[in-house]
Amino acid sequence: MKDKKTFKPCDLVIFGALGDLSRRKLFISLFRLEMAGLIEPETRITGVDRHAMENDEFVQLIHKSLQEFSSEVLDEEVLARFAARFAYLQIDLTQLDQYQKLNSVIDPETRVMVNYFAVSPFLFKSICQGLAASGALNDESRMVMEKPIGHDLKSSQEINDVVASVFKESQVFRIDHYLGKETVLNLLALRFANSIFTTNWNHNTIDHIQITVAEEVGIEGRWEYFDKTGQLRDMLQNHLLQILTFIAMEPPANLEAASIHSEKIKVLKALRPITKRNVEEKTVRGQYSSGYLKGVPVPGYLEEEGANTASTTESFVAMRVDIDNWRWAGVPFYLRTGKRMQSKCTEIVVYFKQLPHNIFDDSFRSLPPNKLIIHLQPNEGVEIEMLNKIPGIEDPHIKLQKTKLDLSFSDDFKNNRIFGGYEKLILEALRGNPTLFLSREEIEQAWTWVDSIQNAWKHMNAKPKPYAAGTWGPIASVALIARDSRAWEE
Ligand code: BG6
Repeated sequence: MKDKKTFKPCDLVIFGALGDLSRRKLFISLFRLEMAGLIEPETRITGVDRHAMENDEFVQLIHKSLQEFSSEVLDEEVLARFAARFAYLQIDLTQLDQYQKLNSVIDPETRVMVNYFAVSPFLFKSICQGLAASGALNDESRMVMEKPIGHDLKSSQEINDVVASVFKESQVFRIDHYLGKETVLNLLALRFANSIFTTNWNHNTIDHIQITVAEEVGIEGRWEYFDKTGQLRDMLQNHLLQILTFIAMEPPANLEAASIHSEKIKVLKALRPITKRNVEEKTVRGQYSSGYLKGVPVPGYLEEEGANTASTTESFVAMRVDIDNWRWAGVPFYLRTGKRMQSKCTEIVVYFKQLPHNIFDDSFRSLPPNKLIIHLQPNEGVEIEMLNKIPGIEDPHIKLQKTKLDLSFSDDFKNNRIFGGYEKLILEALRGNPTLFLSREEIEQAWTWVDSIQNAWKHMNAKPKPYAAGTWGPIASVALIARDSRAWEE
């Protein structure tokens, strides 16, 4: 087993170093890794962008981003160590001959080149060609990219083809930041390290499963991108389907990337298609109108800055998903995700089946089923809702009450810092561990399934259902699950 010190140092090259992703996420995540002492001392980081800039100016800019986006105190000593790793290179990413400059900063003899594409995918082709022309790459080099990896199957294949013309699949690290979240990773532990869940995890004991990813944020400042994308492609195609695959997959043989990828792909292939025949009954699209969030008035989607008032893009999706395989036959998965919802909450609720006979009818006409509630964020933890006898001898009957077994991560792992998804994934990319990244086949399979829904919606040509900001989505979403005599977890 490698420990953190045996990994080779890297030349991390960030393309798009002056862009939003770098400023908001990458620098701060790298800084947190620096604070934790997790970056190899010899690792160097080069920012690449098209504007002229001196190294000092670049370092100042990073410092500013840290001040703006980080909540922690910036320790001077750590800052100095961090700043010493950085260099800046001005490259016009569309000019192939300029990529030669990379050879002045990288050292392929002692460091692995890790290329982070923090730019819009339309630049991927020139970056790949420029890197190939520069001669800087070797078999050890890696590339890291993240969504949007296309907006449908075809465009995602185009991006993957461009990347594959220069990098082998084993060199490509595709990020879904949800796979870096501790609680999402904990699903593997919960499912495959606890026998109570391994034997009960199927259609014999589980009635249905709900996955909710609710956000309070609206579209603040990125209306144009979001309006072309919509919540289905922005959140469900990636984050929710990833959670679903972790919940539904068969036990992998081990934790190697290949084993995990192949089990996830099997789940994606078993998703029952949603087509124009059943889309109305299985899905709900919503768009927020103005409302109140924690008492503060907020505008509707069509009143956000830069909005096209005729837009029919969805900011909310709910759907019933069926998995056609042996384990999950007859167990629906209800998924919902939306912007401007009542509160930020990402959770999975597993509803177990009701018992066939009730001997406690003094307490409940029918016994409420057990529930396993997995809070992915915030208040990370796991709860099991159970029935217990109310203590006391006065009452001759056995009276029951619902109680919760509550494992809160912040209480139980007080001394373990919970890192964010980006920190974990950047670290794994630097280490060269592909387990938590997405394979090409996985992404393309997810697009195949989502494209069918998108096409069915297009065919239906219906406007999204309105819901007031600060609520749990349109009434139609309640009706979707109520049709199966079930209700969303409150
Ligand atoms: C991103 C989406 O992938 O995930 C955003 O593009 C969304 O629209 C974000 O807000 C949510 O991430 P998190 O980690 O805050 O749940």
